[in-house]
Amino acid sequence: MNIKTRKEFPDFVAFVSDVDLKDDLTVEQVKKIDDAINKFSVLVFKNQNINDEQQVRFTKYFGEIEASGNKSNITKASDRRLSTDLADVSNLDKNNKPFTQNDPRRIFNLGNRLWHTDSSFKKIPAKYSLLSARNISKEGGNTEFADMRSAYDNLDTKIKDKVESMICEHSLIYSRQRLGFDMTQELSSDEIKNFTPVEQPLVRTNKSTNRKTIFLSCHIGKIRGWIRPDSMCFIDDLIEYATQSRFKYDHQWSQNDLVIWDNRQTMHRARAFDDLKENRDMRRTTVLGEEKLL
Ligand SMILES: [Fe+2]
Repeated sequence: MNIKTRKEFPDFVAFVSDVDLKDDLTVEQVKKIDDAINKFSVLVFKNQNINDEQQVRFTKYFGEIEASGNKSNITKASDRRLSTDLADVSNLDKNNKPFTQNDPRRIFNLGNRLWHTDSSFKKIPAKYSLLSARNISKEGGNTEFADMRSAYDNLDTKIKDKVESMICEHSLIYSRQRLGFDMTQELSSDEIKNFTPVEQPLVRTNKSTNRKTIFLSCHIGKIRGWIRPDSMCFIDDLIEYATQSRFKYDHQWSQNDLVIWDNRQTMHRARAFDDLKENRDMRRTTVLGEEKLL
């Protein structure tokens, strides 16, 4: 197995080759990959023609799988295209047809175009995400990643002091409000309970490396003790700062790429493509986090 970086980002994003994710991996190989995730935050594996079962098996080398269900999406169980081991990050319904423009599931999924961290709205937020490109769009549909360790390191000292003990509320309701999609209107009072905001610290430490990161996400809608409009202005300024090109990697997908990212150390967003016409079939498995942060 080979792990290579590029000179523009010596400690962010690495390309892993000479490993077939369909094979059984040795303890040493798993450790090498896990260490590389901690070190580089984003790992790219090319030409990995895997199916769902193989993706799930590979994911389990790194921990327990976070089930995808009614707490992370508005798709009903009967409308799911994939098993609950996988999050469907495609633009497709269960007949493999693109969602129509006004389909609430499409509008909900547009939230992936905003800078976020997967499952930051859960009491135990996600650790790693593994995204497999089964079918890509002809144009667009890139995924951008931003390094929240470098963003933290380069913060102005005054802002570092200000954010050190900040606590933020995260919910899918907040990120979808940014799109003009009001989940409180779209869902029943019972369904909306699945999306109750969860508090998370704004600064966290990766215990494996002892590096601090800014735990940012468009799911943040409020800072504890602040009013919402002030919270939004502050968080939006911070997201704008943390996603400058010096902290950012733009991944242009090829068929059968598999990308792993560390949600403790990065933010990401999907870019636009012709989603009403093209089939972009992307399947994500998620490694459950190991602890509550508060
Ligand atoms: Fe995501």
